[in-house]
Amino acid sequence: MTLTEKVNITTGTGWAMGPCVGNTGPVPRLGFPSLCLQDGPLGIRFADKITSFPAGITTGGTWDKDLMRLRGEAIGAENRGKGVHITLGPAMGPLGKHPAGGRNWEGFGSDPYLQGVAAYESILGIQSQGVVATAKHFIGNEQEHFRQGPGAISANIDDRALHEIYLWPFQDSVKAGVGAVMCSYNRVNNSAACQNSWLQNNILKDELGFQGFIMSDWLAQMSGVASVLAGMDMAMPGDGLTWDDRVPLLGPRLTEAVLNSSVPIDRLDDMVTRIVATWYQLGQDKNHPEPNFSSWTKNTTGNIYYGSNEGPVGIVNQHVNVMADHPTTVARKVAAEAIALLKNDKKTLPLELPMKIGVYGEDAALAPGGANVCADRGCNQGTLAVGWGSGSTDFEYLVDPLSAITKKAQSYGGKVTAILQNNATDVIAASAKKQDICLVFVNADSGEGYIQWEDVAGDRPNLTTQKGGDDLVLAVANNCDNTVVIVHSVGPIIMEKWVNKPKVRSILWAHLPGMESGNALVDVLWGSTNPSGKLPYTIGKSLADYGPYAGVLYTENASPPQQDFLDGVFIDHRHFDANKITPRYEFGYGLSYTTFSYSNLRKTKKGSFSPLPAPRPGASAKPPTYSSKLPRPDQCTFPAGFTKINRMIYPYLESADTVKVGPYPYPEGYTKKQTPSQAGGAEGGNPALWEVLAEVSVVVKNTGKVAGAEVAQLYLGFPPNAPVPFPPKQLRGFEKVFLKPGESQKVTFALTRRDLSYWDVTRQNWVIPNGNFAVMVGTSSRKILAQGSLAGDGYY
Ligand code: BGC
Repeated sequence: MTLTEKVNITTGTGWAMGPCVGNTGPVPRLGFPSLCLQDGPLGIRFADKITSFPAGITTGGTWDKDLMRLRGEAIGAENRGKGVHITLGPAMGPLGKHPAGGRNWEGFGSDPYLQGVAAYESILGIQSQGVVATAKHFIGNEQEHFRQGPGAISANIDDRALHEIYLWPFQDSVKAGVGAVMCSYNRVNNSAACQNSWLQNNILKDELGFQGFIMSDWLAQMSGVASVLAGMDMAMPGDGLTWDDRVPLLGPRLTEAVLNSSVPIDRLDDMVTRIVATWYQLGQDKNHPEPNFSSWTKNTTGNIYYGSNEGPVGIVNQHVNVMADHPTTVARKVAAEAIALLKNDKKTLPLELPMKIGVYGEDAALAPGGANVCADRGCNQGTLAVGWGSGSTDFEYLVDPLSAITKKAQSYGGKVTAILQNNATDVIAASAKKQDICLVFVNADSGEGYIQWEDVAGDRPNLTTQKGGDDLVLAVANNCDNTVVIVHSVGPIIMEKWVNKPKVRSILWAHLPGMESGNALVDVLWGSTNPSGKLPYTIGKSLADYGPYAGVLYTENASPPQQDFLDGVFIDHRHFDANKITPRYEFGYGLSYTTFSYSNLRKTKKGSFSPLPAPRPGASAKPPTYSSKLPRPDQCTFPAGFTKINRMIYPYLESADTVKVGPYPYPEGYTKKQTPSQAGGAEGGNPALWEVLAEVSVVVKNTGKVAGAEVAQLYLGFPPNAPVPFPPKQLRGFEKVFLKPGESQKVTFALTRRDLSYWDVTRQNWVIPNGNFAVMVGTSSRKILAQGSLAGDGYY
């Protein structure tokens, strides 16, 4: 490739200058296409005839690895069908440090292990379909206030918390072979994530052995040369410091920087190799469809380059239906299997055949304007099925709870009375008295910070139900003997006002179920699916219970704003456990219509618990080498007779005269040969970290009368005299098993070296502490039903 061809691959063509939310420059001479980058984590944004899958948080709530994989496969298949090369998901940051964080729902839950397993399975699923997955947002992007631009917040994270909490799922992603990583908007330790050399060059590319490419989040780049030298490989969407400005920081500026020697040519070659190799590795050189949809219009024809505001005109939407049968089944299954049954007094659920059913609350039905009433789902109206922002989709349809419940009731002659106005509490109270069963719907919504709905500026301002949900529940529960509360939520809510009311018999936590919402709920309500969801985060009794550092920073405390992650490795359930705070419902909690017993805990050591992993292996392959000869500047100007498309970003120089050859000082240390990390050595880090050093097994038995699935969870208590403090319990394994009544099954958990280690900031490596590990297996983080210990090997 020529210099300008190479540069073109690294730079977006500009906002809306192609069918997708991000489009790279092509190399027509060699048949290398413009790559289509499209949101998002739960399905294809801005497209028709697609599935709106349950959100990440819902998927995490299934605790089901097979379903996580299947959902990934289905998302991958739909993206491929629409011609997407690179899907902008899964999201694993925010991880959920702040329970009110606006985008937590895009990821899988507030625990690094759960988040990591779900990311791993999703990526394997997506990439099995020939679509590149993107692990995002790297890293520390825990809140939406002060999310971007010159005033972007600095997430100040210590090295241990970085490794054990926030980086953990990215490590799993690299282990899964993820093709792309998106660097985030925020600063980390006061250096912008996309120009943070320590994080990108050292941690991601050396220590974790990441072989793919790093793209910027949309306009997250704060510089040109500095970002490139710090390891960023692709600028998205190609514009510069402000939205749609067409003043690129790469593109022609990168051409110039290579020509004047401020960016070494081998760095550009590395960027391009990472992108092109990923394209080959995913088989996209063979029959990958061209994008057949437009993010910018639903019309069939329109301007090919929408953002140019002029022709050529052509077919921009082929309306290809990619909703194969299996995605819809998967969507319904994930939504149903995620529902957590939090309370079920007097075995109120499953419903038998109640004749008089009251359905209350706006969240039960579609908004009057339909499921797509607000752009990017940026308002809370009608039943809540996804949060808002780039991580949402347009709904092809949305099965709302009321329709599905009505259909079910009609099938046996039951009668549904629905009152949807949340504030009609008097009418609701009167109606509730007359019902056999009352289903009351409440919710809480949030999303990406470029949209504000009422007082929810991305992050939630509090953890209460929205739209008067608490009063609504009370109006029902004070009057109806059999009240079932159904919650659709982006995260935890405080339910202290009503949770212990005696007539609140049952609570179903349905998360963000996606388009099959109502069907999945009916499956659980009437028991064709026995609930098996477990909470992917802790539900506290107050926000304060999450600890002094769990709050979103809402007001500027410095310029740029500073968020010190002083909770370290003690977030969510780790904080509750360490401080002996009783949550309302603990992490990993969820009931079933049946019961399970645990027995026969067995532990087998498979390897030595030596403190340090084996030394980093040598490189198994040599990077390719290329000629370092630079072209003449006049070979990098617009070719003669070239017709420009209005507002398109090109790699060419306007004039060769702007190139002033160096020398330019590189940042200090840039030319120094760095010592590779001992924690590295392969994709996912040192392969020794993935060696299984112990196995734990337990027998789970269904002791009840109906079939159902149980999620057995393994928590480790680290040795008490270790040099650093540990949370009392760290999740290190989970398996979901489906059991018929009376059936039992052995469940086995494999513990890797990483699972048994902490990040030693002095040794800069994963270290197994000396001493005995407590092994705790149970049905939630607080209901341990089998325990034992694993002895260390006496190392000091
Ligand atoms: C979001 C990303 C998204 C990108 C492209 C950004 O605002 O933070 O998650 O992928 O936009 O839409």
